[in-house]
Amino acid sequence: MKVTVLNGSPKGDVSVTMQYVGYIRKRFPGHEYVVHDISQRVKKLEGNLTAFKEVVDDVGSSDVVLWAFPLYHMLVPSQYKRFIELVSEKDAVDAFKEKYAAVLTTSIHFFDHTAHAYMHAICDDLGMRYVGFHSAEMSDLLKEKGRDQLVLFAEDFFDAAERKRVTSRANPPVNTRSWNYLPGAVAGAIDTKGKQIIVLTDGTGGNLGRMVERFTESLAGKVEVHDINDIPLKNGCLGCCNCGLDNECSQKDGFPEFFNEKVRTADVVVYAGKVTDRHLSSQWKKFIDRTFFHNHVPALKGKQLGWIIAGPLGQLPTLRATLEGEAELGRINLVDIVTDESGDNETVDTMIQSLAERLIRHSCSGYMRTRTFLGVGGDKLFRDFVYNSRFVFQADHAYYKKHGFYDFPQHEYGTRLLNTVMTGLTWIPQFRKEFKKRTTSEMIKPFQRLLDE
Ligand SMILES: Cc1cc2nc3c(=O)[nH]c(=O)nc-3n(C[C@H](O)[C@H](O)[C@H](O)COP(=O)(O)O)c2cc1C
Repeated sequence: MKVTVLNGSPKGDVSVTMQYVGYIRKRFPGHEYVVHDISQRVKKLEGNLTAFKEVVDDVGSSDVVLWAFPLYHMLVPSQYKRFIELVSEKDAVDAFKEKYAAVLTTSIHFFDHTAHAYMHAICDDLGMRYVGFHSAEMSDLLKEKGRDQLVLFAEDFFDAAERKRVTSRANPPVNTRSWNYLPGAVAGAIDTKGKQIIVLTDGTGGNLGRMVERFTESLAGKVEVHDINDIPLKNGCLGCCNCGLDNECSQKDGFPEFFNEKVRTADVVVYAGKVTDRHLSSQWKKFIDRTFFHNHVPALKGKQLGWIIAGPLGQLPTLRATLEGEAELGRINLVDIVTDESGDNETVDTMIQSLAERLIRHSCSGYMRTRTFLGVGGDKLFRDFVYNSRFVFQADHAYYKKHGFYDFPQHEYGTRLLNTVMTGLTWIPQFRKEFKKRTTSEMIKPFQRLLDE
């Protein structure tokens, strides 16, 4: 069988993910493998039709396609996203149709589910026969069990294509409403109370541009607006992780300065973007990926955030999940996500006005929505990850130590003592019996003391 591997790592073959592909090749030597370094060469693929066609021809003549990439900010790297966009823009969808496809990622399992859900949907949109995914933790390949599971995954993938297995489509097509939003006049502009407000938008035309305009008009103070297509943002993140030592990006295109001087200093941040395939554009993804120079430090902590989105967000729960996850992990208060989906001018006007009002109000009061599993779970994962790789992520380590992120339960000596003593006591039959009887009432005792005060 001919296996075309679309490599999503910007590091080319010097990539963790490609070691996994290498292992599959080693264990299944009977197939013909063609690997294209998509993310590393995306600029060439965009500008040079021959280079792009070479990839598409290989896809078209292959039996199976393996989408292999590292997780970048809950999704594919921006360069890979750009390639996915190019497939439609350059009318290359036909080459992907009916091809058996699977997804292989490496990551630390933070929001890997959203990246896989996105790629599954992209495969469905391209008319591919999606077989499944393998989401490896970076070091899985170094363990026997990890290698065994990878082999079983590849075996199942190849078997599906060989036997022409029937696959099911999980994602209905996205329906996009085409209408022109016409904003009404602003009845009463909101006092910004001296708050610094920045809007970053992906373009200034169409519904998105008009929604952004309506937003800025709804505020009485100064609002700084930047088009993310015009800011210094040359390339996507290269994944070099040089920033791990001191939060300094290896790319000197002015993006870190822009981000630190404009976005980090604001009280209120509004991001505005268009739905492009099933996510925001690769330009937005590039922006988000490049903020990685702050690694796992919540660089926008405490800010109020609003999203303005043109497009069918309601049909894209994965996109919403990434926006919410990104905010929660970053300790940012995501006030609302306003869209133009209603198709009704007045509704959009009202939603934008309400967003503006709440952003200012919450910024003044310091309100932060309670976090959920997305942020709380993410903290635990990164706590362990940063601690274990603190020689790479030294800046993270210093921040985590200073701000009490290392809340390992092992460090809580009172809890350790309580657990040791109580566990011992539960082995005394009389205590055990009493323990079972009083579990629920004892659980609320500290709360009752508080309420009785
Ligand atoms: C910019 C950037 C963003 C990342 N985002 C995530 C993420 O959201 N979730 C996760 O589990 N790992 C994330 N990672 C970790 C990578 O997915 C992981 O290191 C991967 O194995 C790198 O593979 P590669 O060497 O093939 O590029 C991120 C790494 C970088 C550089």
